Amino acid sequence: MGELILEMKNITKTFGSVVANKDVNLSLYAGEIHALLGENGAGKSTLMNVLTGIYKPDGGEIYYKGKRATIRNPKHAVAMGIGMVHQHFRLIPTLSVAENVYLYSDDRKFFLDQKKMEAVIGECSEKFNLAVDPTAKVWQLSVGEQQRVEIIKLLYRGAEILILDEPSAVLTPQEADDMFVTLRKMAESGKAVIVISHKMSEVMHHADRITVLKGGKVEDTLLARDATVERLTKAVVGDHELGEITPREGELSQEVVLSLENLNVLNDKNLPAIKNVTMDIRKGEIFGIAGVAGNGQRELAEAIAGLRPAVGGKISLLGDDVTKTSIRKRIEQGISFIPEDRLHMGLVPGLDFKDNVILKQYKNPKYNQKGLLRYGEAERVAQEFVAKHDIKTGGTELPVGLMSGGNQQKLLIAREVDGNPVLIVAAYPVRGLDIGAAEAIREILIEESKKGTAVLLISEELDEIFKMCDRTGVLCDGEMMGIRKISETDFNEIGKMMSGEKGEEEADA
Ligand SMILES: Nc1ncnc2c1ncn2[C@@H]1O[C@H](COP(=O)(O)OP(=O)(O)OP(=O)(O)O)[C@@H](O)[C@H]1O
Ligand SMILES: [Mg+2]
Repeated sequence: MGELILEMKNITKTFGSVVANKDVNLSLYAGEIHALLGENGAGKSTLMNVLTGIYKPDGGEIYYKGKRATIRNPKHAVAMGIGMVHQHFRLIPTLSVAENVYLYSDDRKFFLDQKKMEAVIGECSEKFNLAVDPTAKVWQLSVGEQQRVEIIKLLYRGAEILILDEPSAVLTPQEADDMFVTLRKMAESGKAVIVISHKMSEVMHHADRITVLKGGKVEDTLLARDATVERLTKAVVGDHELGEITPREGELSQEVVLSLENLNVLNDKNLPAIKNVTMDIRKGEIFGIAGVAGNGQRELAEAIAGLRPAVGGKISLLGDDVTKTSIRKRIEQGISFIPEDRLHMGLVPGLDFKDNVILKQYKNPKYNQKGLLRYGEAERVAQEFVAKHDIKTGGTELPVGLMSGGNQQKLLIAREVDGNPVLIVAAYPVRGLDIGAAEAIREILIEESKKGTAVLLISEELDEIFKMCDRTGVLCDGEMMGIRKISETDFNEIGKMMSGEKGEEEADA
């Protein structure tokens, strides 16, 4: 490791009665990848927001390159060499990669020379192995590529400290590996990298040092090579026990809740994303969709929820053809949807907790009396969610955009399982959650299935699928490679199907 580049000393930051950071000390060396770990709401994002000038700390000092620094705002931080890639990207979709990078920089010398600008930005991305076409429009890029653009923006501005907030949460395993190769390259060139993550194996594998936050304080700081899963788990969740989820047994119900027949769906670029998929989900069943993200999972979930049209085939719910039914009608018929992009599709960040609770139900007489919204009832339900799912809000009056990522997810799930749905479509429901919260969410889905709700669980983690599901189907390039009872298959077989080998025949179950 190189020299000490940054010290945060006794940083304290409160929001009303919430103490988000309390006397936090963090040191950072040039050349290191430093991981920040901790439960949802532990204060990770807040600490980084203090470092990048988004928040002014209530107490404590920051020393940057040996000198006391007052970071006035994010612009100031970037100008000093401290830049951050946020959980939710901040790119302009209709502009090109080069334009996005250039607008973020403060040089204006290529404004009239598009070609030159693209060439210079292309060079910058090549230098760090950040493959992306500088002329491509941002809306055309995959999530992984968009993330690279965010990194290039910072590098082009000369960042020496790069902070990434849960960068792997939105990536496929392959993309995540590539990203860490890039981050290592940046570290080797003398930069310091801070990565917020919930994935312990990733952190142990790729970081040099690890700091664990708990309840706003530093719980542990250690070298990654000294880390064990036990030590990290204990630091993150403390002594409270994690429930063991046991594999499911028993016969499948004969009652079909959801049936898909030769379903065809297009993606945003109008290319086939789901190709002739046929499957069903039974009453009380948890059906896992396995596969590498980006193989049609999103389009499948959206087609079932009614957000995306089927261009062929049939979707039935309890025997009713709902292929052309509106989203609202499907919600009324009992379809709940937990989308992967929770902040954009599931919640309205600018609205408060209560409004998000009643978002999809504002016509329900429970909340609506002759056109007047019953806020008292909404508040009561909001408090119920908070208590039941241990959600940290800072107050039900605050915009949910200010809640921590994991707590937003908990709110969304609490809302979607409320009101006895017949089918829950859950896309990566535990993404971005700490291990305690993830287990809690899994328990909720299992509880729902025991009440008879059918659950479609889209997941990238085979562990999760094998622990929770009755059957699993594997999607690869939009095709169903095979459907198996969990009790009759293994990782090996599912892994082969994920990489494109078709299974022999479908489980008739
Ligand atoms: N602007 C804000 N106003 C009010 N409360 C806030 C604000 N920002 C954060 N908080 C609260 O501070 C605490 C720490 O939040 P923070 O976002 O730092 O957590 P985190 O460790 O990043 O969690 P996650 O893993 O869920 O992203 C939480 O209780 C959160 O609700
Ligand atoms: Mg966060």
